[in-house]
Amino acid sequence: MAAGFDVARVRRETPGCAEVHHFNNAGAALPSEPVVRAQVEHLELEARIGGYEAARVAAPRVERTYAALAELLNAQPSEIALLENATRAWDMAFYSIPLSPVDRILTSEVEYASNYLAFLQVARRSGAVVEVVPSVATGEVDLDALERALERPTALVAITHVPTSSGLVNPAAAIGRMTRAAGVPFLLDACQSIGQLPLDVEELGCDLLAGTSRKYLRGPRGAGMLYVRSSLLESLEPPLVDLRAADWTARDEYVLRGDAKRFETWEASHAIRVALGVAVDYALELGVDATWARIQELAASLRERLAELPGVELAEQGGAPCGIVTFVVAGRQAAEIRERLAERRVNVWPIPREHSRIDMEARGLAEVVRASVHYYNDDGDVDALCEALVGLTA
Ligand SMILES: Cc1ncc(COP(=O)(O)O)c(C=O)c1O
Repeated sequence: MAAGFDVARVRRETPGCAEVHHFNNAGAALPSEPVVRAQVEHLELEARIGGYEAARVAAPRVERTYAALAELLNAQPSEIALLENATRAWDMAFYSIPLSPVDRILTSEVEYASNYLAFLQVARRSGAVVEVVPSVATGEVDLDALERALERPTALVAITHVPTSSGLVNPAAAIGRMTRAAGVPFLLDACQSIGQLPLDVEELGCDLLAGTSRKYLRGPRGAGMLYVRSSLLESLEPPLVDLRAADWTARDEYVLRGDAKRFETWEASHAIRVALGVAVDYALELGVDATWARIQELAASLRERLAELPGVELAEQGGAPCGIVTFVVAGRQAAEIRERLAERRVNVWPIPREHSRIDMEARGLAEVVRASVHYYNDDGDVDALCEALVGLTA
């Protein structure tokens, strides 16, 4: 399988490739060696000269992390905030939107559990109404239904781009065109798409975008990021503030900072922030167009191979699915599949209904096994996964 980058080099630079056949990239991908080294080196520097002092030394590298993420998304560095995970990044955006009992939030059937829990909490507190826009037969948001829903006053459209539970890719750019035309803020959960698909906030038309470090960006665990369109920023009051988010200007006054860092906290892991920047630069160097092409090819070949296996049934959705492949195995629990495959150093992950309840209930699925490919996987990995499954179903 030809790729637009040097796969052998990438595998050499990914120590985990020599250890496991990793198909849990939608959980946490294997980091590259430069990412791990950057994180460890910063921790060592902290130990040698002190944490605050090390942060001063690393300040230009942390600034590069903002700039690299901005480059990845076609945004400005001042529109990027770094948080501890994608959920908190999404929360900071969502809980900043003022909502009252007359307000409506529109979402999709594949919304991630944590987002939906926040909807429920805010609906309970404010009286705002959450409306789930129906899907077309292949699972994507029904754009005609969304257009009709947007004819009535709407406070927010919040959509998951790629769900945790299937290879579906929601038509984010088409949704963005509609929300722009309707003048409604659009919050995109790009947790599973950042680093996997090329993302351009101008093309997507989203005003807010939340992402994570550890999945397709191959960054360290414990980091998330938020993009906030500059034109919206001034109107958003973060639900929590600290002395990084705001200046305490007089005894009874504070002034929020003018960039997206108003959503951050002062204390953070600088080692993680430095390493995230290295991961984003690594992605930019390979080129997301090239890595996305390889992810799609590998996922298509895995789907074909799985479809041929007796006892294995794909649990797929999406007209043009991404690198997340899901399936069920007759008579076996997903957790058991994970355990048995792990014995053969093949990493997959069980996804229960509760992580994407609306979609999985509609499809009558209690759980699925998720095998998510990344660009560093190869045919040998796909063979190992399929052979391990044959061993189980034979
Ligand atoms: C679609 C989606 N959104 C949000 C999240 C939450 O991300 P995090 O665990 O970084 O908070 C996940 C995690 O798997 C996810 O799959």
